[in-house]
Amino acid sequence: MKNIRNFCIIAHIDHGKSTLADRMLELTKTIDKRKMHDQVLDRMDLEQERGITIKLQPVTMNSKQYKLNLIDTPGHVDFTYEVSRSLAACEGAVLLVDATQGIQAQTLANLYLAIEQDLVIIPVINKIDLPAADIPKTKQEIIKLLGCEEDEIILASGKTGKGVNEILEKIVDKIPAPSSTNNSTRALIFDSNYDEYKGVVAYVRIIDGSIKKGNKIYLMATGAKSEALDVGIFKPDYHSTGELNAGEIGYIITGFKSVEECKVGDTVTSPLSREERTVEGRVEGVIKPLQGYKEVKPFVFAGIFPREGNDYQVLREAIAKLKLNDAALVYEHEHSQALGFGFRCGFLGLLHLDIFQERLRREYNLDLIATVPSVAYKIYKENGDNITIHTPQELPSPSEIEKIEEPWVSLDIITPKDYIGAVMNLVQEKKGIYKNTEYLDENRAILHYEVPMAAILTDFYDKIKSVSSGYASINYEYLNYRTADVVKMDILIAEEPADSLAMIVYRDQAFARGKKIVATLKDSLPKQMFVIKLQAAIGGKVIAAERISAMRKDVTANLYGGDVSRKRKLLEKQKKGKKKMMVSGVGKINIPNDVFIKVLKS
Ligand code: GTP
Repeated sequence: MKNIRNFCIIAHIDHGKSTLADRMLELTKTIDKRKMHDQVLDRMDLEQERGITIKLQPVTMNSKQYKLNLIDTPGHVDFTYEVSRSLAACEGAVLLVDATQGIQAQTLANLYLAIEQDLVIIPVINKIDLPAADIPKTKQEIIKLLGCEEDEIILASGKTGKGVNEILEKIVDKIPAPSSTNNSTRALIFDSNYDEYKGVVAYVRIIDGSIKKGNKIYLMATGAKSEALDVGIFKPDYHSTGELNAGEIGYIITGFKSVEECKVGDTVTSPLSREERTVEGRVEGVIKPLQGYKEVKPFVFAGIFPREGNDYQVLREAIAKLKLNDAALVYEHEHSQALGFGFRCGFLGLLHLDIFQERLRREYNLDLIATVPSVAYKIYKENGDNITIHTPQELPSPSEIEKIEEPWVSLDIITPKDYIGAVMNLVQEKKGIYKNTEYLDENRAILHYEVPMAAILTDFYDKIKSVSSGYASINYEYLNYRTADVVKMDILIAEEPADSLAMIVYRDQAFARGKKIVATLKDSLPKQMFVIKLQAAIGGKVIAAERISAMRKDVTANLYGGDVSRKRKLLEKQKKGKKKMMVSGVGKINIPNDVFIKVLKS
């Protein structure tokens, strides 16, 4: 055990975790040169294409006589729970800070998670090869934050490989080897994966004892029993070793059919035989479960419907499959009059929603309609009932409602001093409550706010980036539920409510929102052969309206001279035809996907 080191790399998104991991894998010859490519630990196609890490990935490397277990983690705020799970399996963390960006919101959030878990922190300044790198400034920020000495900070470049050897040496020197005081087997499940051929694979950190291939396994929280069909380590592919011992990170092929039986945070142990118990003087029941994880709750909800009704089965199977490897996703069946059969899904944030939709489109070739994302509202009814709703359609009529509550988050924004004014204006618009400001150095500040989660849902991130010329970064965390004065706003297109565009809005912003949405629709919907009325309405009362004029085919073009009555007759006929089209449903308007996105962002 003394030769094992378990660590994560933590950083803000894009500060270079996966690239640094590549260099470590090369240096330790973990991956054959021929198989090496950029960001090799980002194993999903989508991760590769977008250059972001979505799912954590462990890998075991050998460096001299040491066994180094690295867990690569995502940097985006939606996937913070993956970071906290990984940290619980490690004794140390490499804190990576981009020399051109300095400390950003997720750097802090992830660092605090690591400190909470008592991990040893190794500070590294990355991307020092870039001309814009400001090493002295970044050093000062890190020193101020960690209270470390200047010479403890390693200068590195994941691109050129500079400093990577030094990081590996520091990991061995500074991060303590794992320790264990008990022989009774206990392993923490920090992730799980459903593999089409292998079934449920548990990603574990062995805390005490050992697990061998063929051992009986018992999960303390779910009570599920099975056998370890195989055990091994990540290279980063599954690499069977037949045995995992205290301090190690690896996998168990569990034989379970469903990830529900093998929940992250559960403790794997082995039921002791009567013989073992007497020989070692132990009794079952003295084995205490390890501290698990808080269950993650989805915050953002959206309806997902197939554009073609007969794709429903494909969608159902696709979602069930994606759920196998996505513990945070929740979904239930939903039916909408306009959109037909589909699903109401819950996500950790907008990136999670975005990636989910993208995977459905790409991996299952589905054409989808997603409704306006919404938070979950708590409704306190006059009759004493309390319900939680996830769609605008579920909102009871105003006369039945005593009070509505919405989720709030604590929001940290790191921004250069020059943009503080613009950032503050934006957060104020979003009903943010200012708490206080801290300074990272004389030029950069952290603004602390509390804001309704709904306010930061759709375009907040883009807006923060745009008012700060790309320099500000944000992090948020769920706080509590608070009273909200909200109403349901319907959007009617050609006098038909468009279910997918209905939304819950603040009463005092409804008029402005409604006006903007109908204006956006007017600019973006394609013209039809007839006039289209666009309306925003609350409780049947229209609060904003626009119309798209008809695309007019010049039916009088062949008429020469001034035969007015004939001309009128033709126009009359055209009008009648258009009316017929509307009534018979030929005039039903399909809202293209890009129009949806424009409306959401308007
Ligand atoms: P997420 O997992 O999405 O949070 O990103 P990450 O932290 O893993 O960052 P990644 O390794 O994907 O790098 C982000 C971008 O920075 C990529 O375009 C890399 O090529 C680039 N990059 C990473 N390290 C360096 C470096 O040391 N120097 C330079 N010049 N570019 C780098």
